[in-house]
Amino acid sequence: MRKFYHVRKTGSLKNIRQHATPILENEPGKVLVQVKAIGLNYADLFAIMGLYSATPKGTFIPGLEFCGVVLASDTERFAQGDPVIGVTRFGGYTTHIVADPHYLTPLPAGWSFEQGAAFPVQTLTAYYALKTLGDIRHGQSILIHSAAGGVGLQANSIAKKFDAYTIGVVGTASKLDTLKNAGYDKGIVRGHAFRRELVAALDGRELNLVLEATGGKYFRYSYDALAAMGRVVAYGSADFTPSSHRPNYITLAWKYLMRPRVDPLSMIPANKSVMGFNLIWLYERHEIMARLLNEISLLTLPPPMVGHTFAFDDLPEAISLFHGGGTTGKVVVIV
Ligand SMILES: NC(=O)c1ccc[n+]([C@@H]2O[C@H](COP(=O)([O-])OP(=O)(O)OC[C@H]3O[C@@H](n4cnc5c(N)ncnc54)[C@H](OP(=O)(O)O)[C@@H]3O)[C@@H](O)[C@H]2O)c1
Repeated sequence: MRKFYHVRKTGSLKNIRQHATPILENEPGKVLVQVKAIGLNYADLFAIMGLYSATPKGTFIPGLEFCGVVLASDTERFAQGDPVIGVTRFGGYTTHIVADPHYLTPLPAGWSFEQGAAFPVQTLTAYYALKTLGDIRHGQSILIHSAAGGVGLQANSIAKKFDAYTIGVVGTASKLDTLKNAGYDKGIVRGHAFRRELVAALDGRELNLVLEATGGKYFRYSYDALAAMGRVVAYGSADFTPSSHRPNYITLAWKYLMRPRVDPLSMIPANKSVMGFNLIWLYERHEIMARLLNEISLLTLPPPMVGHTFAFDDLPEAISLFHGGGTTGKVVVIV
């Protein structure tokens, strides 16, 4: 049997249900993969809560990345038994998937399925932010928000390949050890002393690049702290995460009204840039994705840190823990 989770109606994290159907047949030109591990992404939560505009209309299966073994292949690139990593534009919360080979890549030797499932989305996000948009240069100082999470830890690994000085920002002091073990140079906890602590952490250095994933007042503080020629790359809005399993639209509207804004006219004399992106739009451009994955492979990054694992039947608990904001590293569901 094939098991999967789907959402009929968005609006609450409780709207996710498990289903079972007969196992899938492969399709012409495609690859049937038996999924062994699924990577959770923050976008999954926003999609289920109805806060992500890229979510398919109607019933959908969440999930953007997986790792598994090829069961059947109608392409020469992959053979039965090959271990593969895959990305998918939704549809990943499943035990079996018919995948487009453009979005599959071999699992590196020595990596576990969990590490494979933790790799593509967070690494592409961190690389695109740091290299493509951030134009990272050797020895620069970089501030990374949500630093102990999936994207944040990969961003630090990549930044270290450029000998960057990295400062990580986290929500609680309990995550500071994770930053230290991952090789960040400094760690800061979000709070009233943030701006002072950032100056101390920089210790006289210029701040050249910010990876911003919260979307609230810390965006403004980070932008203000940038040196001339500095860049903020924005790719997340965790500050808008509803604290309950369903959105409170009044709170969201208030946060939206109070969101930080940057005046383009003031950016010219300040000599600072702000950029944003959503990786999901790269899905239609698989040739760009393949080029980025190739550039990433040349960095020979260590396997990503898997912080929490859950069984497939416990996927709703995995979502609940992830939603609470207390996780470190990647949250992975094992099939
Ligand atoms: N634009 C894109 O294409 C793209 C692609 C992938 C991911 N992203 C974004 O990148 C960020 C990291 O993604 P991820 O999947 O690796 O997740 P993650 O960082 O592993 O987990 C999300 C983290 O957000 C932080 N956070 C900040 N404010 C929060 C709040 N009010 N409630 C709950 N958590 C809060 C928490 O860490 P701290 O409290 O320690 O900061 C939490 O651990 C997310 O914002 C995600 O949306 C964007």
